[in-house]
Amino acid sequence: MLLHLSDLHFGLEHDLITDALTKLCNALPLEAIAISGDLTQRARRVEFQAFHDFFNELGVPWIVVPGNHDIPLYHLPRRIFNPFGYYEKAFGDTEQVLETAHFHLVGVNSVSPKHHTQGRITHKQIAEIGTKLMAGKDGKHRIILSHQPFRVLKPSQQSDVPILARDASQYWAHCGLDALLHGHFHIPVVLPLKEYFELSKEVLDIQAGTAVSHRLRHDVPNSVNIIHPDLRVDRYDFNLENNQFERLGPLWPSID
Ligand SMILES: [Fe+2]
Repeated sequence: MLLHLSDLHFGLEHDLITDALTKLCNALPLEAIAISGDLTQRARRVEFQAFHDFFNELGVPWIVVPGNHDIPLYHLPRRIFNPFGYYEKAFGDTEQVLETAHFHLVGVNSVSPKHHTQGRITHKQIAEIGTKLMAGKDGKHRIILSHQPFRVLKPSQQSDVPILARDASQYWAHCGLDALLHGHFHIPVVLPLKEYFELSKEVLDIQAGTAVSHRLRHDVPNSVNIIHPDLRVDRYDFNLENNQFERLGPLWPSID
């Protein structure tokens, strides 16, 4: 199984919740942890280092992609000339691949300094990521991580959907894509894309809440997703009464 986290916003993390996350990771037979961006609050070197140290200590393979908070907001020279400098120093390339027993995970960098919070996918990425997807071994789920969702719940969120999301989905579905992992809105939800984008096969848009930060929205508590080898998705919420992550129920298949 896979632990899907997003929007940790290190710099605003809560110690009680990071401790609970460590306990959860130790209790579950995880193949890997996939983290879909907004690792830090302000893309500071010290925030990236704290994030890196925390996940390295867990002893579980992990893969990350940047979110819009992982490039400088106020430091314009860095934002323009070296937006991913601190990120790359901490984690290496912004688009990595991780192979586990059941999953072929491919990172996609959807963040652009030119587009404030909106994501963007380029034609070059569509082709290159397609090749990486097709390199996955038969029998493994092909999964992409990128920060901003491709399908949203509200019209007001539509402006943050990445440029070329539909084109990318259509091509990647042909390359065998099974699911996309995102965050950004701090709302855990799974939305199917086949009919929505007229794809050749079903692709799930799996979105995680904020795992450990104070940046809670719409009364949704801190939460994480567990993705099983059959692509069922469970939501785990942080319980303030006993300071633990507890299984709330299935996000997919949905029960309503
Ligand atoms: Fe974000």
